[in-house]
Amino acid sequence: MRLLVIGGGGREHALAWKLAQSPKCEKLYALPGNPGMEDIAECMGGISMEDSAAVVKLAQEKAIDLVVVGPEVPLTNGIVDALGEAGIRAFGPSRLAAEIEGSKVFSKGLMKKYGIPTAKYEVFTEAEAAREYVRKEGAPIVIKADGLAAGKGVIVAMTMDEALHAIDDIMEDKAFGQAGSRVVIEEFMEGEEASLLAFTDGETIVPMISSQDHKRAYDGDKGPNTGGMGTYAPAPVMTEEMVQAATEKILRPVIAAMKAEGRPYQGCLYAGLMIAKDGPKVVEFNARFGDPETQVVLPLLESDLVEIMEACVEGRLASMDIRWSRGAAVCVVMASGGYPGTYAKGKVISGLEKAKEAGNLVFHAGTVQKDGNIVTNGGRVLGVVAKAASIREAVDRAYAGVGKISFEDAFYRKDIAHRALSR
Ligand code: AMP
Ligand code: GLY
Repeated sequence: MRLLVIGGGGREHALAWKLAQSPKCEKLYALPGNPGMEDIAECMGGISMEDSAAVVKLAQEKAIDLVVVGPEVPLTNGIVDALGEAGIRAFGPSRLAAEIEGSKVFSKGLMKKYGIPTAKYEVFTEAEAAREYVRKEGAPIVIKADGLAAGKGVIVAMTMDEALHAIDDIMEDKAFGQAGSRVVIEEFMEGEEASLLAFTDGETIVPMISSQDHKRAYDGDKGPNTGGMGTYAPAPVMTEEMVQAATEKILRPVIAAMKAEGRPYQGCLYAGLMIAKDGPKVVEFNARFGDPETQVVLPLLESDLVEIMEACVEGRLASMDIRWSRGAAVCVVMASGGYPGTYAKGKVISGLEKAKEAGNLVFHAGTVQKDGNIVTNGGRVLGVVAKAASIREAVDRAYAGVGKISFEDAFYRKDIAHRALSR
């Protein structure tokens, strides 16, 4: 088969790495891809992945059999619909189904209607009404911009002051543009977070191995929110019983709900969960694989990813036997100094080969080739991954890999997987 991966971050590198291992994969393309994928995929530039018509044309020219869409923006733009209209198969939800991530008002409404456990909430379009609600409910409380805001549209306000400021920023000063014309204000949930990604064909849903992300920039879960500074899988908080509860109370009902709403969901569904005293609750749904969750989940997948994705697209996931390794995987993100604020680009990266020789997987997130060197080109630069028999061992090996790689002003968290290790 001829495959095309859409996207160019660490998640897409991990997807490409796993797809390329399939005996079914004859040729792999990536748009735009990244320098880390060069040895497994032909990376293509020149067109934007957000231009669905151009992507359709490219897929036709290259005679692609299956397109795998990484990021949320092409999905919410309707890239899968456009490909489908041209008779090209794609793994990922349609535009209407991707609204489960694209609109928090939609996803909260869906959960309320179908009794899927999540935080209590109200929707506001007027700042004054939002302020009044916050004054009535008190802090801690959570303020969320309705639309896509690159993971930054959520403010967990520990004090009333912070909550009122957040309302001003989002609704009056339009800090997230149109994404903030409606806000969801919701109850603060206590517990430990976990990510549960799942394969689905719209009828059957099969959870992947669980994982946990570290969203705050600094050690001890301090500092600003980021796209994710590191992950590990499996997450010990997701015991077998908890995965079963999440499957029965959340995953299966939401897939049935999407079908009932005329928005059948095919692809990877990401459930961000809060494991509360009374069981798992939904923090958010994403319409795609997690980043950097994918970088630890896929290395533990033993089955053929191309076969699984074909089964999802063709509606025969129920017949698949999906196998996982017994061990654990850890990913440490190496970021540019200053991230998630402003940072410099163009720093030469050294030691990539040494880390690979030592057995690490190194997924590129923000790099570019320049004058024969690989240089930094983003906030999150690399995901250094190790797979081992235990989380402890995987942590040690991932950090050994990080120790072999350097670039100016690199920074990374030193405590990835601390929750699993302290159990
Ligand atoms: P989201 O973009 O919805 O995943 O939110 C970003 C982060 O904010 C989550 O990973 C949680 O850490 C936190 N968060 C969001 N909603 C809540 C909530 N209702 N209660 C507590 N924390 C939350
Ligand atoms: N790692 C968080 C996300 O992919 O949304």
